[in-house]
Amino acid sequence: MLSRLELLFSINVTGLKKSVIRELLKLTQDPETISFAGGLPSPETFPVQQAADLAKEVILKDGVWALQYGATEGDPRLKEQIVRLMRDDGVQVKPENILIISAAQQGLDMVGKVFVNRHNPIVIGRPSYVGAIGAFRSYAANFVGVDLDEHGLRTDLLKETLKKMRLEANLPKFIYTVPDFQNPAGVTMSLERRKTLLDLVREYQILVIEDTPYRHLRYVGNSIPTLYQLDNNEGYVISVHTFSKILFPGIRLGWIMASPQILEKFIIAKQSMDLCTSALSQAIAYEYCERGWLKPHIQENVELYQKKRKIMLEALDMYMPKQPDICWTRPEGGLFLWLTLPASIDADTMFFQALEEKVAYVAGSGFYTDGGGRHCMRINFSYPSENEIVEGIKRLSRVIRKNLDN
Ligand SMILES: Cc1ncc(COP(=O)(O)O)c(C=O)c1O
Repeated sequence: MLSRLELLFSINVTGLKKSVIRELLKLTQDPETISFAGGLPSPETFPVQQAADLAKEVILKDGVWALQYGATEGDPRLKEQIVRLMRDDGVQVKPENILIISAAQQGLDMVGKVFVNRHNPIVIGRPSYVGAIGAFRSYAANFVGVDLDEHGLRTDLLKETLKKMRLEANLPKFIYTVPDFQNPAGVTMSLERRKTLLDLVREYQILVIEDTPYRHLRYVGNSIPTLYQLDNNEGYVISVHTFSKILFPGIRLGWIMASPQILEKFIIAKQSMDLCTSALSQAIAYEYCERGWLKPHIQENVELYQKKRKIMLEALDMYMPKQPDICWTRPEGGLFLWLTLPASIDADTMFFQALEEKVAYVAGSGFYTDGGGRHCMRINFSYPSENEIVEGIKRLSRVIRKNLDN
């Protein structure tokens, strides 16, 4: 092994550590452990036969280009399908405002690459999606956190934060947010806050990154317009979408919607990342959409997760200790809810006791960049079976009770 290896790593990766969450997830693999820790769609939702048939068909019929490199911008036929999908969601978008990407995580990395210089401030929610934190951290962003509540990002606090940052001549490049059924907190940004957020970015001439992988997985209530729609093509919003939660994550496919001026830079960035998104994945997704299979598939997912969410909320109501400083969010969609415990409980330490009880969660601290969230946890309800949800919540309640008694 090269003895100078440490000196050869770039500054960008020197400070990076392995994701604690990913490391801890390895501990949850014991088959007897009920894991609420992952963020995975349920394998029950995977259209295995359809995907196998389509893959075969597409390769035999269109292999000449499906197995070839494609344009960096993406397959125009898939873009047309995305235009339709977005139209059904109330968004009028033109193909030139769409860039196909190798799933949302690539989009977040591209945002970092295109906008963040070392130590540039960016605003994120407290808590925030850990993959976004990781992506922006790899470009050495400075994080400025703004709290969330049950209506999403606290725009009153954001207003104060931006005012202060302007006085310090330190305005952020952008505000990163997951407005629909946020990962990890499960909360949804209200319409009023969405509008206020857009007013603020217009006032301060900065951008919003709208990351919305769970948008189509709504189980109760009515859909709220995307930030992209509310922006009405003014160009303040970069909207990141994915097929991971509506089709299957193994397809590694998503799209970004933004102004052509921004997309031009993203295309250049993408060329040095992977040249193009897999033509085969795009061809499969195109056929899936073209045959009208996507919408019923999403509906099936919604029905399955709707049931699991209900079972989890009922189990929490039934088994959790009843006291005002133990509460949880009641997500209208998505895959997660957020449990807050008394400040005296350290969910990081309690994780190992939970493993002894054969139940796992993700401690809240991983979703904060400033040491917050230690008495919180993220709980996933899409992956465990219905029986596991009930049994897992019983076990978790037992662990929490023990910590309250101490
Ligand atoms: C909020 C959020 N953004 C982005 C991603 C990345 O998704 P993808 O599979 O499209 O890369 C995830 C994955 O869980 C997520 O929760």
